[in-house]
Amino acid sequence: MPTVTEILETMDYGPAPEASGEVMGWLKSRKTFGHYVGGEFTKPGKTFDASNPATGERLAKVAQGSAKDVAGAVKAARSALPAWSKLPGHERAKWLYAIARHIQKRDRFLSVLDTLDNGKPIRESRDIDVPLVARHFYHHAGWAEMLDDEFPSAKPVGVCGQIIPWNFPLLMLAWKIAPALAAGNTVVLKPAEYTPLTALAFAEICAEIGLPKGVINIVTGDGETGAALVAAEVDKIAFTGSTEVGRAIRTATAGTGKKLTLELGGKSPFVVFADADVDGAVEGVVDAIWFNQGQVCCAGSRILVQEGIVQTFTKRLHARLSKLRVGDPLDKCTDVGSLVDPVQLARVRELVAKGEEQGAVLHQAECRLPSKGSFFAPGFFTNVHPANIVSEVEIFGPVATLTTFRTPDEAVELANNTRYGLAASVWSENINLALDVASKVKAGVVWVNATNLFDAAAGFGGYRESGFGREGGREGMREYLADPSPRAKPEPEPGRLDAAPVPGTPGKGVATIDRTAKIYVGGAQKRPDGGYSYAVMGKAGQIGLAGLGNRKDVRNAVEAAHKATGWGQATGHNRAQVLYYLAENLSAREAEFTARLRSAGVPKPAAEVAASIRRAFYYAAQADKFDGAVHSTKSAHVTLAMPEPFGVMGIACPNDAPLLSFVSLVLPAIAMGNRVVAIPAQSMPLAATDLYQVLDTSDVPGGVVNIVTGARDELAKTLAQHDDVAAMWYCGSEAGAKMVEEESAGNLKATWTLPNRDWHAADGQGRGFLLKATQVKNIWVPYGE
Ligand code: NAI
Repeated sequence: MPTVTEILETMDYGPAPEASGEVMGWLKSRKTFGHYVGGEFTKPGKTFDASNPATGERLAKVAQGSAKDVAGAVKAARSALPAWSKLPGHERAKWLYAIARHIQKRDRFLSVLDTLDNGKPIRESRDIDVPLVARHFYHHAGWAEMLDDEFPSAKPVGVCGQIIPWNFPLLMLAWKIAPALAAGNTVVLKPAEYTPLTALAFAEICAEIGLPKGVINIVTGDGETGAALVAAEVDKIAFTGSTEVGRAIRTATAGTGKKLTLELGGKSPFVVFADADVDGAVEGVVDAIWFNQGQVCCAGSRILVQEGIVQTFTKRLHARLSKLRVGDPLDKCTDVGSLVDPVQLARVRELVAKGEEQGAVLHQAECRLPSKGSFFAPGFFTNVHPANIVSEVEIFGPVATLTTFRTPDEAVELANNTRYGLAASVWSENINLALDVASKVKAGVVWVNATNLFDAAAGFGGYRESGFGREGGREGMREYLADPSPRAKPEPEPGRLDAAPVPGTPGKGVATIDRTAKIYVGGAQKRPDGGYSYAVMGKAGQIGLAGLGNRKDVRNAVEAAHKATGWGQATGHNRAQVLYYLAENLSAREAEFTARLRSAGVPKPAAEVAASIRRAFYYAAQADKFDGAVHSTKSAHVTLAMPEPFGVMGIACPNDAPLLSFVSLVLPAIAMGNRVVAIPAQSMPLAATDLYQVLDTSDVPGGVVNIVTGARDELAKTLAQHDDVAAMWYCGSEAGAKMVEEESAGNLKATWTLPNRDWHAADGQGRGFLLKATQVKNIWVPYGE
């Protein structure tokens, strides 16, 4: 026993373990878990072990789900769907409230189970995970209650397949299940193989409260079970996990019509300016990268410190690091627990060793690690070269990199120097500076003078390769409601694409028609790279020629679009003015456009031009009105939900209503600040190429709208594959839609493959288009006390 003097000198804490008897008793009584399907646990067949990573001891045996098990669960969810989706929202809300209350009643039990299964400190499961789980169900009970008012005539998606990771086992379950149920969907959820136990305890809660059978189904298993769920007859897949698996799921669901949301990895910047509250920022690092052993998708894993304070900052960070208590996760004094599994430990060790080999210097807490379990001492790297593996790869362990910057511009450049875009944290006492950086950083969540704050009322999700879709709040609810589905209309045949030399091009064959539309790149008409054009046929034969664009033309157009950065920064008012001007100029040439469409044999030419003009005025009006929201989330904060443009978008238009469909797709995209590379109707591109002069005379800056004519699906493929295109809309054939979704997996661009429709109908325009043209950035700002 240490003496009182010794205790006072060291200020060591004695052990304060949370009791685990009740949970261990529960596990002992269950021993082996089957899947939870149709309101009952199945008889387990093949099983695997669920272990406590802090000790290595087995906690239970859990069934390994086969494709047949998954199919059975999907069937149960399908049978439960009609009754559940028809329940009035108020009735579904009652079930969600019941779940929330039961979570609260069992909070201690669930915290201990979460900690045993995952290795996270009890302080975190008890004070963060489980309270947020309850909050999520309460919040979404409210959405169920208000569904009809807030989302009039919206329908649930159907049966949702949900695949979750192991870092926040119960919280991720809540993020997935609560909105799905509120919207009237039924669910098959697969927890991660390392952490299946809280999901099974949750299943028991569902059974206990008498939730209608089949509404929630839990199938346990590994990646193969996950892949079987992706392939099953579900209407939506919601996935959280690694970018690699996210990419595989994107490819596997391409062309299936399954709605998809992906919440993937990150390498999030944590930017500290010289005028920051240094102690606050150091404490921020604790919550950013040492929280949950760094196994957090939005962990602030790249600390960027302004040069002037780096010494002070590093010194205090060292001091704080040395005070972290690493050890038994069940101990209430523990700050850092165990990684989730020996496999993860090996992965972290390997990455950290490679980082050191490549010259980075590791500063690690000098703590005595428990002799058993998957513990890794927290730390950070200095002397890190940008090309070092630890600068680029998500370590998913309690180790950050620390580098410096000089100016705010440099900070933004470094912050954005990653293929990810999940989160960012900005520390400065200068509100102008902090909010300026928040606006420039490419991330779905930005915390100002804070980090890792979450709330059910705020959306969460990434930019770039961190995935697409949002969880939480209104945006999250939308992901569980079916997209409005206008009656699909087959598009006319595109016609032949016979290449002919562009008139005047030296070489064989001279076309007899002088009306040749070039392509439009960077605000100028350009001869297509290949030097060829193709005949555009009208009612009475050929009515002109259009440039036959190729991959190089698409690449040039993307480059030109990239250069037009000012458009995204222009105010809504500026963009509205340009669009009004465009609408006016189009109206001034109404007769000419009508005649052109008539000669092309387009049905209802006058109506099409009139509708296009109206649509241009509509999106001009929306340019400064479609805006975000301010969420009331945590105390002392508000969360700004700002719809931001993607940047460069690709748009492939249908062979139908060639002017109206072009205007209906391109204008909402640019109204929101995107720059566009558009492929107009292959059969009648002249409707779009006639717009060149309208664009020129309407002050649309060069590079904002780029038009490449030619073989739509070939050009669309190049756009879908292009890493500098952030989002892609495709309206055409089913095969083309599948191709676009598949090819977009490279940089995980957000895609929207919409069926052709009657473009004259009311649903040819509206806020739905603007929603698809934007991604929401959630910015957490200090506000009040
Ligand atoms: P993972 O992405 O393989 O696992 C996440 C979930 O996906 C699990 O439920 C798993 O069973 C399932 N899964 C795996 N392969 C699948 C497939 N082909 N189809 C459908 N579902 C599949 O992540 P893993 O291997 O556990 O961890 C590896 C790395 O991934 C981590 O070190 C970390 O860098 C990253 N990761 C990121 C997470 C995040 O929240 N962003 C969460 C978990 C891991």
